[in-house]
Amino acid sequence: MQVVNTVKQLQKQISVATASKRKVGFVPTMGALHNGHLSLVKQAADECDIVVVSIFVNPTQFNNSKDLERYPRDLQTDLDALSTVKCDFVFAPAVDEVYPEEDNRQFNFGALETVMEGQYRPGHFNGVAQVVSRLFDMVKPDKAFFGLKDFQQLAIIRAMTKQLELSVEVVPCAIVREEDGLAMSSRNTLLSQAQRKNAPLIARTLFESCNFVPDTSVEGVKKQVIDTINTDTELDVEYFEIVDGYTLQPVDNWNESEYIVGCIAVFAGEIRLIDNVTYKL
Ligand code: PAF
Repeated sequence: MQVVNTVKQLQKQISVATASKRKVGFVPTMGALHNGHLSLVKQAADECDIVVVSIFVNPTQFNNSKDLERYPRDLQTDLDALSTVKCDFVFAPAVDEVYPEEDNRQFNFGALETVMEGQYRPGHFNGVAQVVSRLFDMVKPDKAFFGLKDFQQLAIIRAMTKQLELSVEVVPCAIVREEDGLAMSSRNTLLSQAQRKNAPLIARTLFESCNFVPDTSVEGVKKQVIDTINTDTELDVEYFEIVDGYTLQPVDNWNESEYIVGCIAVFAGEIRLIDNVTYKL
């Protein structure tokens, strides 16, 4: 595994490795790696010949400076984790390397970005699109791997690759959970003991809510999920939306779409956790 910090080094190394037309798999991350990330890296290694992982905490996607400040950073621990799987190159650039000049591009993802995360984190997806398009341009991957936990991010990245006519294949990867069901997230390490103990209620409630579909109305399931989680003193639902899995627009009934997903954001103190469940596919 080689660690490179500049685009020049990265492209030199990759061009040597891909001289014989081998497929490059790319896993963009912001570090603080956990088994969810490692499962993406493993999938990349299964489907591609060369695996590149980027570790870059992208300032343009944080709409809250406190969140950016406290985002966990520990490169050596991340490298140790990556050394347990097949990873050929780690790209860990400085901010100036990714943004030698300010990126003023404004993407337009229409209705995809006005709901859920887009509504509560204005500018977030524009920042994600900026950095991911830059990283794609630097790495030039054949396939890029993203976790389904960030359900809306995946839709945005797909829309971005379409808009920019990029040839990279965006591969969705299953959510990886802790034994108690909590979706793995770098933010889980920031939870207090009490918050960590109670946070699995989010996934449990989502899974249980599947039993009420389709007999209970969409509105009824929404209310049940929100009320159940909000009874917990450590948890506070920011939103729970039941949406069409392709357009991300809220549905009113279970027949409205062939693909229906429930997406949730919950505050545990100041820590924001997201998760989702597929009701219909
Ligand atoms: O999902 C993340 O960790 C980030 O949003 C990503 C895709 C690495 C872009 O910074």
